[in-house]
Amino acid sequence: MANNTLVVYSSLTGNTKMVAGRIYEIIEGEKRIISLNDIKEINVDDFDRFVIGFWVDKGTADKRTREFIKKLSQKEIAFFGTLGADPESDHGRKVVERVSELCSKNNTLIGKFLCRGKIDPKLVERMGKFPLKLVHPLTPERLKRIEDAKPHPNEEDFKNAENYFKDILNNK
Ligand SMILES: Cc1cc2nc3c(=O)[nH]c(=O)nc-3n(C[C@H](O)[C@H](O)[C@H](O)COP(=O)(O)O)c2cc1C
Repeated sequence: MANNTLVVYSSLTGNTKMVAGRIYEIIEGEKRIISLNDIKEINVDDFDRFVIGFWVDKGTADKRTREFIKKLSQKEIAFFGTLGADPESDHGRKVVERVSELCSKNNTLIGKFLCRGKIDPKLVERMGKFPLKLVHPLTPERLKRIEDAKPHPNEEDFKNAENYFKDILNNK
């Protein structure tokens, strides 16, 4: 049984950091939480179980998180991601597939969770201008997705995350 858990998160605008903090609170046993920016401060070999939080970039975990996961081996990993799209959408499902495959390569995947997260208004502004306008035009569908994401993560999302991780981490 794993008894020393590291929560490590990568967050640009704070959504993933907030969810990470709430998950950390419910973990029993020895634990630590750290931003991926500060990962050099610790020795990952001191931990056998990892809860890895990332923000979704181009349909998968952000690059720094992917690189971090690739360096791990023989660990237990549960991941959570925050994304602008609906977690239940095809896009969300593909994110889960891609990150699951990466985590399962050299480690044991023990949990996967997605949560919606508001999109930075600065990014939305850039999407309305050249050159992003060409790649991510602000179509009515995209504007609706952005609007729907605005209140997230909310208290219900936090509770869902807490319940999910309580189940997989504390009942072992
Ligand atoms: C450069 C960039 C790319 C993104 N790509 C996606 C994407 O492919 N799919 C998606 O659903 N959300 C995407 N998002 C939205 C973020 O994943 C979402 O807002 C997330 O909650 C941000 O987390 P953070 O506040 O921890 O940085 C993108 C955001 C940025 C800034």
